[in-house]
Amino acid sequence: MRTRITELFEIEYPVICGGMLWLATPELCAAISNAGGLGNITACNYNSGEELRAAIQRARQLTGKPFGVNISLFPSMRLTEEVFDDFFRVCAEERVKAIEVSGRPAVKYLQMCRQAGIKMMHKVGAVRHALNIERLGYDAVISLGFEAGGHPLSDDVAAMVLLPRIVESVKIPVISAGGIVDGRGLAAALTLGAEGVLMGTRFIATRECRVHSRIREELVKREEHETALVCKSINLQGRALKNELALQILELEEKGIELADLVSLMSGQRSLKAWQTGDVESAPLMVGQSVGLIKETVTCRELLQSMVKDAREILEKNLARFEG
Ligand SMILES: Cc1cc2nc3c(=O)[nH]c(=O)nc-3n(C[C@H](O)[C@H](O)[C@H](O)COP(=O)(O)O)c2cc1C
Repeated sequence: MRTRITELFEIEYPVICGGMLWLATPELCAAISNAGGLGNITACNYNSGEELRAAIQRARQLTGKPFGVNISLFPSMRLTEEVFDDFFRVCAEERVKAIEVSGRPAVKYLQMCRQAGIKMMHKVGAVRHALNIERLGYDAVISLGFEAGGHPLSDDVAAMVLLPRIVESVKIPVISAGGIVDGRGLAAALTLGAEGVLMGTRFIATRECRVHSRIREELVKREEHETALVCKSINLQGRALKNELALQILELEEKGIELADLVSLMSGQRSLKAWQTGDVESAPLMVGQSVGLIKETVTCRELLQSMVKDAREILEKNLARFEG
């Protein structure tokens, strides 16, 4: 399956793993890249550039294939501007294949990354942001629909509308994210003009993702209406599993909670512990509406191969289906 995205990242299949705090580790990254997609190491898992460098080197021991690094430029309580500078510098020194940026554009780092040969992509939730990313000289743009796990933009536009709007507005290749878990989603995204897909939630329910088995079991059980949009009141909305903590946050937000109280409830350390211990109720567990489409735990190789096979069949057979 060849698109401008497979060519840009030199990968077999146009399937990319998005940044996933605590979960996108060198091991998961290598499993996805070895399966023919583009794996991801999430820089914010680490506290320094040198820790990130060690993770990049670990992934290189596990795969000879290309992979990317996610750097989320959202306001952080834990990471300083200097650490972000180091993340980009280390990626350039290590000449990683790609960087996926989210939050504010990586203006101050673009030239250094391009000189190091890194392919740059940025996650956006609006046409105006996609146009800006293209103007800044990024290589690709990720259209992030409102149904996505993590932090969808507060414009609240779902992928079915956002993706074709961005495709018709820019010339650089567009990657679709939000709501995709299988070959049907891949076929739909390609049909709407995307040249690749980026997924988060689906990769949590793979064998190589280091979460407690209870988490995977829970994701298989949960339906598409069981996510909640938290922290909208502080302009940092996140889509998470509807659990006791998410309901508590929504209630507090309605009452007008203080930012400091919200920060402690949403702390990354809570999520880290929950992914590891399998506590599905008392931490923010970021997942998208696509959770309703996950029916089993598979390996990354099984996932990517079935996605591509099913998408091909759908794209080939659909024409025949509608002919008289
Ligand atoms: C558990 C989890 C953690 C995430 N953490 C990050 C992150 O640290 N940085 C980021 O840019 N996106 C993050 N995301 C968003 C994903 O990269 C991706 O955009 C999103 O999951 C796509 O939607 P989907 O979940 O429907 O596949 C996270 C998503 C999940 C599910």
